[in-house]
Amino acid sequence: MSQDLMEKIVSLCKRRGFIAPSSEIYGGFESCYDYGFLGALLKNNIKQSWWKTMTQYRDDIVGVDASILMSPKVWQASGHLTAGFADSLVECKKCHHRFRKDYLKEDKCPDCGGQLTEEKKFNLMMKTFVGSIENEAAVTYLRGETCQGIYMNYQFMRETMRLKIPFGIAQIGKAFRNEITTRYFIFKTREFEQMEMQYFVEPDEKKKEKLFDYWKKERMNWYVSLGIKKDNLRFREHRKDELAHYAKKAVDIEYKFPWGWDEIEGIHDRGDWDLSNHSKHSGQDLSYYDEQTKKKFIPHIIETSAGADRNFLSFLINAYDEVEGGRTKTTEAKKESEVVLRLDKKLSPIKAAILPLVKNKKDLVKKAREVYDLLKMNWMCQYDEAGSIGRRYRRQDETGTPSCLTIDFDSLEKNDVTVRDRDTMKQERIKIKELVDYLREKLEGR
Ligand code: GAP
Repeated sequence: MSQDLMEKIVSLCKRRGFIAPSSEIYGGFESCYDYGFLGALLKNNIKQSWWKTMTQYRDDIVGVDASILMSPKVWQASGHLTAGFADSLVECKKCHHRFRKDYLKEDKCPDCGGQLTEEKKFNLMMKTFVGSIENEAAVTYLRGETCQGIYMNYQFMRETMRLKIPFGIAQIGKAFRNEITTRYFIFKTREFEQMEMQYFVEPDEKKKEKLFDYWKKERMNWYVSLGIKKDNLRFREHRKDELAHYAKKAVDIEYKFPWGWDEIEGIHDRGDWDLSNHSKHSGQDLSYYDEQTKKKFIPHIIETSAGADRNFLSFLINAYDEVEGGRTKTTEAKKESEVVLRLDKKLSPIKAAILPLVKNKKDLVKKAREVYDLLKMNWMCQYDEAGSIGRRYRRQDETGTPSCLTIDFDSLEKNDVTVRDRDTMKQERIKIKELVDYLREKLEGR
């Protein structure tokens, strides 16, 4: 893997409608990106898999969807407005470019060689004003982490969902940080999406340690279950001096990116930091009474915090395969290499492509449309009649579509289609009336 691979990934994203720079007609904007249709589908599939795994498949976790804007008191209590949530910034005295101190290899400006200023702390919260008067009283912040919205709903969820410790609350949503340096495409941006779960537990160090290990394994297994190669994943525990202000312990799940190992998710022991501080600042008693042990305590929190965009990038890189000389053996001169996105079927944006062999035969098009109408009620499908069949297969391979269904002249008589498998390229004829069951088995294994 090389940097070259990143260029290919960025180019594929643009070419095939996954991701493009935001506000592109104005030259883009501050490493913000927009997800096109296929990108939005892939990202939704990642989020849906996480949501189902964390809430639907278990009975100890519920979900919530809290607002992005909250009272600024939340951020005072959580410690995000102080030096704890700030990075060290230096500025070049000559070109005035700004850098994160810990990303620099030398003490001269990497852009012009100029002298750098002393480092100062730069808070990462994104300030905004609420209402029509732009004064200090109207200041609030776009949330810097989604979990604060979970703490705000801890009592509401616990009471209405009748939750007993240990229990969790999960949320997917946007977070914002005024990062000094953004980098590596969608890896580090100022607006991003998090998939966070807060697990509320007894303040018992031994029990907590067991649950911490449990969540480490669960989260790692999720990536592996969606096809990420084990060799490209690892845990990395934070040193004491890199722990975030709220964390007693932190272990990252790292993916081996083209630039090296980097974080895609963090598992954190936040102790009683959050609920204690919110109790203190709000004056509300956020403690939990255990009916069985008759003990009252402020729950401790084990957090799993994944970035949906970083997940997206790692799934994409993991799936990217380039076949030198093309996928089909040919006697012709050597062909260009072809790309196959070997995404897990659960994540593929389009599950089946429906392709009439030729587009100028009315009967074929009609039959193909019938098949498309039948399948689109079950899965995200795409109807495509443009270009040669080989070209259409390649387009679908590049976007990770697991099955291509071709309707040819025999289909008209036999009421069947040819199904081509993305990975094996094997083709089989399947009766149209059996297609839904066939694809359900193939896509969902049931
Ligand atoms: N609530 C805990 C928390 O926010 P974090 O380690 O700061 O912890 C968790 O962030 C995850 O959010 C990271 O593992 C990463 O996937 C994602 N993330 C954080 N900052 C990001 C950024 N600037 N751009 C994209 N993703 C980011």
